[in-house]
Amino acid sequence: MCGIVGYIGNKHAVPILLEGLHRLEYRGYDSAGIAVIERGELCRVRMPGKVNSLVAQLAERPFESTIGMGHTRWATHGKPSEANAHPHANGDETIMVVHNGIIENYQTLREQLSARGYRFSSETDTEVVAHLIEDEYTGDLTQAVKRALRKVTGTYGLVVMHAQHPREMVAARRGSPMVLGVGDHEMLLASDVAAFLRLTDRVVYLEDDDIVTLRADEYVIDTLADKHVEREAERIEWQADEVELNGFRHYMLKEIHEQPDTITNALRGRLIASEGIAHLGGLDKVLNHLKEAQHLVIVSCGTSYYAGLYARYVFERLTDLVVEVEIASEMRYRKTNIRPGTVVLGISQSGETADTIAAMHEASRKGALLLGLVNVVGSTMSRITEAGVYNHGGPEIGVASTKIFTSQCAILVMIALLLGRFKHLAVTDGMEIVAGLERLPTHISTVLKQADAIRSIAASYAQYDNFLFLGRKYNYPMALEGALKLKEISYIHAEGCAAGEMKHGFIAMIDQRFPTVCLATKDMTYDKVLSNMQEIKSRGGKMIAIATEGDEEIAEVADDIIYTPPNLDFLQPIPAVVALQLFAYYCAIERDCDIDQPRNLAKSVTVE
Ligand code: F6R
Repeated sequence: MCGIVGYIGNKHAVPILLEGLHRLEYRGYDSAGIAVIERGELCRVRMPGKVNSLVAQLAERPFESTIGMGHTRWATHGKPSEANAHPHANGDETIMVVHNGIIENYQTLREQLSARGYRFSSETDTEVVAHLIEDEYTGDLTQAVKRALRKVTGTYGLVVMHAQHPREMVAARRGSPMVLGVGDHEMLLASDVAAFLRLTDRVVYLEDDDIVTLRADEYVIDTLADKHVEREAERIEWQADEVELNGFRHYMLKEIHEQPDTITNALRGRLIASEGIAHLGGLDKVLNHLKEAQHLVIVSCGTSYYAGLYARYVFERLTDLVVEVEIASEMRYRKTNIRPGTVVLGISQSGETADTIAAMHEASRKGALLLGLVNVVGSTMSRITEAGVYNHGGPEIGVASTKIFTSQCAILVMIALLLGRFKHLAVTDGMEIVAGLERLPTHISTVLKQADAIRSIAASYAQYDNFLFLGRKYNYPMALEGALKLKEISYIHAEGCAAGEMKHGFIAMIDQRFPTVCLATKDMTYDKVLSNMQEIKSRGGKMIAIATEGDEEIAEVADDIIYTPPNLDFLQPIPAVVALQLFAYYCAIERDCDIDQPRNLAKSVTVE
């Protein structure tokens, strides 16, 4: 969703801001803008559309400035237009603001300010902040921002510049991510480190109610309550080249191919083969609670929700926990069984998904122990949870989640293994699971080697407008995920279905123009899935099967087959879903879709 970048230092600000905005494009946006201070004046350029249009305009008017901020906007209040694009200014354009989040009381503030003569030029909630700061300004920018924000309810990550303060900028955070990059005689700000990773890997994560004043050589952190905070910069583990395409045509393809590494990174140092157990350092401090726990609620959205659905089967197999999986945005409407002692595990790549965070806050009010499985270090979810596990998957730039989904699945198996081994799970079973997990990177590589074959299969199916994805048990969440991937990036209608449900309705759709992708790896449900496939075949439906190597029987029913190596039944679906990711990717290529920036989608959904 919206992205922020800020710069103050000794270099030309504009190229740094534009590069930062390009790096944030993957998050989804519909307008972009920048502001700099040039010879004592705040100058801004903003417009609906892509960052490249901004680049073109700035090429005609190159600003000379070493301080500036930029923004990509994903419209919430008001349509995408120049007037609604950020930065927003006060009346005489001496103060400018970029903002992510939502000012909930903006109508009231707007009415109060209008009554006092302030004139508004946009439909946005953000503009009130610029006028409020003007209203509070008596010469000290930081104090004015603080006083203004004390009147605001809602969420924000924001940056403020003032024409009379060409050597400082002020940023604040509440509920919307903001990270400070500390360079050599330069400071950077961003809503996402990807924006400035090429310039520095030393970062300070802002916390809620922090107000930071930046100058080229220093940062001073204060809180809204006027408390000074000392916080040292830390080194981020992500490398600059992880946000490059490195020869791949799209980030999605690059990330699909990274999966042998992301799984290796997820497992690294966390498996003890000789004891058949996992060790997850991030859970150490709650281990006693987890050993006693009886009830686990997993909460997440989208692809992360499907990882949760997969985990339910695995937890039920390896532990004696009662497991529920909730769609975060639905959880609040249900009278859930959460009570003191319930363990609530939030799963989120970004760690910033508003629905998941809201559901977790609600669970915490009911006394749950909050855990997180998160990829982005320092994200909001990693802060609100008692303990948790990081994916260590590196930045995921492609809007459609791929590498973090499989990493989530592998880590969830490790958590189930850890908890299972405290109860009835035998060491020998644990050892088998460890060995099975360790085989995953090679098994995924085996699927990746079939990319060309999957591409040809995709080429012969991409003209269809509807698909059914079928799977049972462990493969059912993968069917849902395969359908979601296809929908998101190729805009082909696809439905995921529990194979047993097919004859209760879905089968009515099947004909020669309605193909099915069947996850039919060898497990206890295999024979039943095969019968479902027969039913489809007898109705003339075309079929692609994802099957276990050596399965020749499947060739009698499926038109096309992608094989994955044999493994424990609950681990085979992980490489199988990689085949579905490639299938979706190549269908989208055939249809010439904008794969890394699919229409209407945002990478990190920070509004409910
Ligand atoms: C689909 C996808 C989304 C996300 C969902 C949750 O490819 O990426 O469905 O999974 O928006 O995002 P996170 O995991 O960041 O909470």
